[in-house]
Amino acid sequence: MKINVCKGRLADAKSQALIVPLCEGENTLSESVRDVDEKSGGVIGEVLKSGDFEGKPGQVAVVYSRGKLAAKRIALAGLGKKSELTLEKIRNTYARTMQHLRAMNVLEAAASPEPEWGAESREKVFTAAAEGSLLGLYRFIPYKTIGRAELKEMRKLDFFVSSDDYSLISGEIEKSRIIAEAVCFARDLVSAPANEMTPSILADHARKIAKRKKVTCEVLEAGKMKALGMNALLGVAAGSQQPPKLIILEYRGGKRTEAPVALVGKGLTFDSGGISIKPSEKMDEMKTDMAGGATVLAVIRAAADLNLPVNLVGLVPATENMPGGKALKPGDILKSYSGRTIEVINTDAEGRLILADALSYAAKYKPAAVIDIATLTGACIVALGEEVAGMLGTDDQMKKDISRAAQATGEKVWELPLWDHYDDLIKSDIADFKNTGGRMGGAITGAAFLSKFVGNYPWVHLDIAGPSWFTKDKPYIPKGASGIPVRTLMEYLQNRLKG
Ligand code: BES
Ligand code: MN
Ligand code: ZN
Repeated sequence: MKINVCKGRLADAKSQALIVPLCEGENTLSESVRDVDEKSGGVIGEVLKSGDFEGKPGQVAVVYSRGKLAAKRIALAGLGKKSELTLEKIRNTYARTMQHLRAMNVLEAAASPEPEWGAESREKVFTAAAEGSLLGLYRFIPYKTIGRAELKEMRKLDFFVSSDDYSLISGEIEKSRIIAEAVCFARDLVSAPANEMTPSILADHARKIAKRKKVTCEVLEAGKMKALGMNALLGVAAGSQQPPKLIILEYRGGKRTEAPVALVGKGLTFDSGGISIKPSEKMDEMKTDMAGGATVLAVIRAAADLNLPVNLVGLVPATENMPGGKALKPGDILKSYSGRTIEVINTDAEGRLILADALSYAAKYKPAAVIDIATLTGACIVALGEEVAGMLGTDDQMKKDISRAAQATGEKVWELPLWDHYDDLIKSDIADFKNTGGRMGGAITGAAFLSKFVGNYPWVHLDIAGPSWFTKDKPYIPKGASGIPVRTLMEYLQNRLKG
C-alpha cells in the first residue's frame, strides 16, 4: 500500500473512505472531525447521538456521506477514553480500521490523525497511525492458490495535514514506512517454510540487501569455518544436508573510525532438536528459529534505507539442526572458536552453540556494543509469556536504552538477572562448559552460557522465543511472525544517534 501525505482538509479528500477516529464519551469533536461532520450534514453527530457507536477501542462503524462529500464512506474508529490514549492504541485503531475496510473491498482511504491527542507530539500520532496501518494489513499469502483473486490489497492511504506540518510529517511518515517494510520483510523470512528458507537462501537474501549503498555482504562457507575453528557452529550443522553459512553484513553509514554496533542473530532455519529430537507436536513452528537472523537482516536493510549515520555489523550463523548420520551426539565435546570446550548434553540446545562462535567472532570488529537476538529457550516463554522478550546482559546502560526503545515501540522486553551463581549450572565435569543447565532458570542459564563467549565489549542478549511468533491475532500483529524486535532495535539505533 502506498502512503501519501497531502496538504488540505480531510473533509475534502477524494477517496473511497475517510477514517474518523473518535474517543469514547467525547462530545466535543476535534477540528477536522467537526469539519467532516458539518460538511456531511451532521452524520457523525447523529451516529453518536444514536448510541450505536461509542468509540470503544476496536469499534469500527462505516456510515455513508450520501453525496455530500467527495468520499462515499466515513469509517468511524474507536480509540477508547481520551484520558487513556496511547500511541499503542492509535496503532491498534488504525490497524483494525484498515483491516475492516479491506474486508469490505474498500481499497483507498484518507485520514488525518488528530495532532492534539494526549501528550504525544503530532508527528508521533501520525507515524503511529501509519505503522498500525502498514503492519496490521500484513498477510503471508504467497502459497495460497485458491481464492487468490478475492484477496484484495489496499492501494493507498492519504494523510491530510496542514501546510505548516507538511514537510515534518512527510519526512517522519517516510521513515515509518521504511521501518514497517523492514518488519514485514522479517515476517516474510520467518513465515517462509524451512524447505524454502535454507541457510543458502537466507544468505541470498543478505546478498540482496547488500545491493544497497554502503552495505557489503560476505558469507563464510563450511571450509572457512573449519579453518577458523568454528566447531560449535559446524557441530550443529553436522547432521544436516544443507551447508551452513555464516552471514556477515556490514553497513557503514557512520564515520570511518567509529566503532560499529554488532547485531548477532540466531539463524536456525529448522530446529528438529537433532538427536535429542523434539516431539512432533508443534515441531513445524521450528521453521521460525531463524527469527533472530531475520531481525538482523531487516535492521541492516532499514538502517541503509534510512541512510542512518551509524556503522553496523550483522552476524548470522545459519544452519539446520537435524538428526543425520553425522549429527552431533549427546556427550560429544566441541572445541569452539574461542578455544573453550563445550560438552553437548542436549543437541536441542543448539542456538547457544552457534551463537557462541558468532559472539566470539564479533570481537574482531571491536564493536562499541553487541546485541544478540535469538529464539533461544522455551523456558523464556514459560517465564515471561509469549509476548515478552527476555533481556540479559553485561551493560546496564544498554539494557536501559533497549528498555526505553521497547517502551516507545510497544514491543515488550523484560530484564532477567544474570548473576554469577548461575555459572555453576553450566560447568562441565570434563570440558569447560556444558550446553544445558537443567530445567530451572533455563532462559538465564542459556544466557549465562552465551556470556562465556562474549568478548571484551558491552553485550545484551534478547531471547525472542516467545514474541517472534504470535499464536493469536493482535491488532497490528496478525497471528504468525511478528517481526519483533526490529522496531525496538531501530528505535535504539536512532536514539543512540541523538546521544
Ligand atoms: N529453538 C528452541 C527454543 C524455542 C522453543 C523457540 C519454543 C521457540 C519456541 C531452542 O533451540 C531449544 O530447543 N531450546 C531448548 C533448550 C534446552 C534443551 C536446554 C528448550 O528451550 O527446551
Ligand atoms: Mn533447539
Ligand atoms: Zn533452536
